[in-house]
Amino acid sequence: MQDPGPAAERTTATAAGVWDWLLGGRHHVAADREAAINSQRSFPLASRVAKYNREFLHRAVRYLTGVGVDQFLDIGSGYPVAASVHEVAPGSRVVYVDYEQDTVDVSRRILAGNPHATSVHGDLRAPEGILANPEVTGMLDFGRPVALLLLSVLHFIPDELEPARLVRSYLEPLAPGSHLVISHGAEPADERSRRLQNEWTRVYNHSVTEQFHRRTAAEVGEFFAGTTLVPPGLVLAQDWHPADPAYIPDEEDESRQVLLGGVGRVG
Ligand SMILES: C[S@@+](CC[C@H](N)C(=O)[O-])C[C@H]1O[C@@H](n2cnc3c(N)ncnc32)[C@H](O)[C@@H]1O
Repeated sequence: MQDPGPAAERTTATAAGVWDWLLGGRHHVAADREAAINSQRSFPLASRVAKYNREFLHRAVRYLTGVGVDQFLDIGSGYPVAASVHEVAPGSRVVYVDYEQDTVDVSRRILAGNPHATSVHGDLRAPEGILANPEVTGMLDFGRPVALLLLSVLHFIPDELEPARLVRSYLEPLAPGSHLVISHGAEPADERSRRLQNEWTRVYNHSVTEQFHRRTAAEVGEFFAGTTLVPPGLVLAQDWHPADPAYIPDEEDESRQVLLGGVGRVG
């Protein structure tokens, strides 16, 4: 079915809408565009980071299908833009979850008639609501490996809500051979990048409903507790299984340090 565009005119910017603008999608509204342009002004490489994130997602999903995983639970999935999981892993069972109703409505219209993929409303902060949702349990067989995808969403969960505990709740019911995929805003190592990121975070948090919490590699590493990290481990997202065998990291690229990515195996 044809992509319907945004269902409703929101007046406040959301992470989903800003992300859609950064990726060149068509589901954002004026408030998202304004917030995205403001954040681009403070960090002009934001859209490149959004693209790095989607490319990391695609490489991780291809890796997972290569090791036999054919079920995906994508929480904080956002609008379908720049190739979603069911397009990268056709034939796999996919459940998209987001707490932004419009992303769910748009996704459901796109997925209408697709017996292998659906989209449901759910909040990452309430695991039981997602794990017990009959549409989730009807689509995914938890007796077999499932990939839990948490891409660019855990950085919206503050420490007070114990994001590591939340991740554990999602991992507990997963069968051996399941995987956890995380990308997460990184605390940059060098002072100049940190200053740029501080300014970007300030502008972003001022204009968007969600609040962005960068974390160090050690902090993000804690989310993988109970899994075995797939080599090369938790690294800058662009460096995780680069598609080009001749890939050489561009150390001059200031957007490099902004996003961490990793995949852990359960059991
Ligand atoms: C930056 S976008 C990332 C989208 C997609 N995962 C990706 O990597 O391209 C973050 C998404 O997470 C969603 N989100 C934020 N907090 C959430 C929560 N507590 N529960 C469910 N979704 C959430 C937002 O609505 C948005 O769609």
